[in-house]
Amino acid sequence: MALRADQNSKPTLRRDYHPPAWLIDQAELTLKLDRDTTRVHARLFVRRNPDSDASRAPLALAGVGLTTRAVRVNGNPVTHGQRRHEGEEMIIGSVPDQAEVETEVEIAPSANTALEGLYAAGNMLLTQCEPEGFRKITWFPDRPDVMTRFRVRLEGSRSEFPVLLSNGNCIEQGELDGGEHYAVWEDPFPKPSYLFAIAAGRLASISDTFITASGRTVALQIHSEPDSLDRLAHAMGSLKRAMRWDEERFGLEYDLDVYHIVATHDFNMGAMENKSLNIFNARYVLADHETATDADFEAVEAVIAHEYFHNWTGNRVTCRDWFQLTLKEGLTVFRDQEFTSDLHSRPVKRIQDVTDLIARQMPEDAGPMAHPVRPERYVEINNFYTATVYEKGAEVVRMYQTLLGHDGFRRGLDLYFQRHDGQAVTCDDFLAAMGDANGRDLGRFERWYRQVGTPTVRAATRFDADQGELVLSLEQSLPEHPDNADLGPLLIPVAVGFLDADNRPLQPVLVGGDTGPSETVLLVLDREREEYRFRGLQADALPSLLRDFSAPVHLEYDWSLEQLARLAGFDPDAVNRWRAGRRLAERILHEGIKRPAGLPDTVALLASAWRATLSDPALDPALAAELLSLPSEAELAEQCEQVDPEAIHRARTDLATYLADHLTAELNAVFQRLDSDRAWSADAAEIARRRLKNIALHWLSAASDRTWSVQAEAQYRRADNMTDRFAALRALVHGNADEADAALADFAERFADDALVMDKWFAVQATRPDPAVAEVLPKLMEHPAFSLRNPNKVRAVVGGFAMANPVAFHRADGAGYRQVADIIAQLDVINPQVAARLAAAFARWQRYEPGRAERMQGELERLAGGRLSPDVGEIVAAALR
Ligand code: ARG
Ligand code: ZN
Repeated sequence: MALRADQNSKPTLRRDYHPPAWLIDQAELTLKLDRDTTRVHARLFVRRNPDSDASRAPLALAGVGLTTRAVRVNGNPVTHGQRRHEGEEMIIGSVPDQAEVETEVEIAPSANTALEGLYAAGNMLLTQCEPEGFRKITWFPDRPDVMTRFRVRLEGSRSEFPVLLSNGNCIEQGELDGGEHYAVWEDPFPKPSYLFAIAAGRLASISDTFITASGRTVALQIHSEPDSLDRLAHAMGSLKRAMRWDEERFGLEYDLDVYHIVATHDFNMGAMENKSLNIFNARYVLADHETATDADFEAVEAVIAHEYFHNWTGNRVTCRDWFQLTLKEGLTVFRDQEFTSDLHSRPVKRIQDVTDLIARQMPEDAGPMAHPVRPERYVEINNFYTATVYEKGAEVVRMYQTLLGHDGFRRGLDLYFQRHDGQAVTCDDFLAAMGDANGRDLGRFERWYRQVGTPTVRAATRFDADQGELVLSLEQSLPEHPDNADLGPLLIPVAVGFLDADNRPLQPVLVGGDTGPSETVLLVLDREREEYRFRGLQADALPSLLRDFSAPVHLEYDWSLEQLARLAGFDPDAVNRWRAGRRLAERILHEGIKRPAGLPDTVALLASAWRATLSDPALDPALAAELLSLPSEAELAEQCEQVDPEAIHRARTDLATYLADHLTAELNAVFQRLDSDRAWSADAAEIARRRLKNIALHWLSAASDRTWSVQAEAQYRRADNMTDRFAALRALVHGNADEADAALADFAERFADDALVMDKWFAVQATRPDPAVAEVLPKLMEHPAFSLRNPNKVRAVVGGFAMANPVAFHRADGAGYRQVADIIAQLDVINPQVAARLAAAFARWQRYEPGRAERMQGELERLAGGRLSPDVGEIVAAALR
């Protein structure tokens, strides 16, 4: 499938959608499983779609890399003359309006390194079909608006594939000759082909049951390789919590008698919601406290929940076409965020999600691949499983809830399911359900699905002494982009509040508003510019704007540094309290970046805000840990006119050292107070305790006084859990402690056989902030535990280096760029999807100082001159455009 970048840049357009000309009511597949050559026999019951606008169109089936042995229509062989091939499609002439189409193909799972379609993973055979992997298994109209009932017969060697799984219920199984056996699975729910799955191999599993709200018993089974069987309990608990929560919060019950999850170490993404047979990256399933951190535990719970929630938002109601991806992903991310918020700390979760949005999504929104949450065009749809579609998409869904209230949102969702259960629909259908259920015209809200880039809201205040009113003006604008022209203003919810001179929350009244005095007022900006008047405020009231990050926008207001320090200390809105601290740090850092050396005196303001946080015993330690954070170097780079990675690194390191030196006593006190010999426990208070303690250790490791390394080394050795052990290891390695090498060696020895833990070992070295890591990179890649064929390893080593180690990747001599470009070219032949993710590291080359910009551009051009997959080709072409 390798093509030159310029040959495969023909995009698919959203406006070109046509309903399918043919439907497939039923598909019967038989797979004779074999690692090297699997035979797939398909019987498709096809009929013309009465709602098609192409009533004479011939039957077209998609297929990629299939060795076709037979094609029959109603039992009659279709000769080569009766079919033709166009791109990925086989077009069969003169098929009766209703017919049975049979195909027989061979595929080669063991040669499938792209991990899309049917592939060999360890000693299993697995599938990944979303979005267009099914066409690598058999001929099919592989598009989400064709919904089919599947019956799947799997046959294979009993010793090699003792477990045979597919979607739905197992309706038959038995022995065959020659040591073979078979199983037949039937999924009663019609589904698009992207939700098809099989898993076969020597799987071990744990089982449990869940009783639904209406009293049905569901059998739950989680499978992994036998050696990880003892790490599945947390995933099982998470699944049951997710099932219960969806019933309680949204009234959504599971609809089949079985639910399977299979964990694999070879997976391109996080996980996949195949109907009743989720397939997961092992990192989001396996967890025990000796090998997984508290953050890993929470991620497992969130991803298990996310895939489970897809059963309604994705499977029961699916997407009409891939432009609508955010319909299921934005909504399901929103749902998993709410789940985590309800089970754990809502403010902490919100701050983490906003951090992620700012660090990952907003740069994408400002880069060459910027697209609306509902893209207008794509070359390779795999490139659009993005932070924009997922996380900004979740923000769009959150805004419905903010605007309509919890009950209104629930009414909208209920109507959405009532109208569309069993259908493949669009974002417009979702919007209509939300509006109709609440008697609201949300027409203007639709612009969120079309706008590109992060909008800006500029705020200003003045005091109208005559009226005794504080006037807040808000003005919105969109970045320059052809798709934004003529769009008009968006509908933007902006939650605001005010503090008095003693930093106490005020309760103003919005003039002309329909609510009484309140601490937080929700403004709805739906014009270019609007003024809001408040009573009950003095001229010096301090505004806290965009509370809870009520819209995915850049909010600009001219706060003084002192005002930011006050908000950082006292804003009752946790997100804005955190955000004010970040803004304060950013202002100081950008001042520092501009200077040849040193930091401005205003740094003292940040130190006192941190001191207050460190010595506030009433503060939730988990929230305190979030407040004690600095923007990453990548985030700072985003805010620079022209990026100089060394200056950013120096300023940020200087600031960390300043804070550590001025707060050594406080940081040490927190560390000592929270350090404990208590045995590990999953208790929320213990998780929060470990989090703040390890943040204290993290900042201590920036101090000029190096005694922290003794504490870190002791913690590394004593730890009975991965959270503490890894935090100590990271401090030692990133802090260049003398003890680092011994700890790394010990870690590698302890966990040599543990793929997921070794990912941490690789990542901690690949991300050590030191230009010399460019020389370490090849050594890490030569390590026997590394493999370019394993996406988790590539992400840990190459991803860590290229995306999370700016001083090394952006080394002035270009050594980082050159190596990563070479790896992308090499990897593209093996796994284009993963290679394309790495290519994004070069996307923002134009923003760097001329020397680096030229080197990055040179690497992009070198890549473009070679043979590239459509995946990498699209990213490279966009970056060079
Ligand atoms: N639908 C999956 C999810 O739960 C992700 C599938 C991603 N597929 C891809 N080709 N990147 O989010
Ligand atoms: Zn998803």
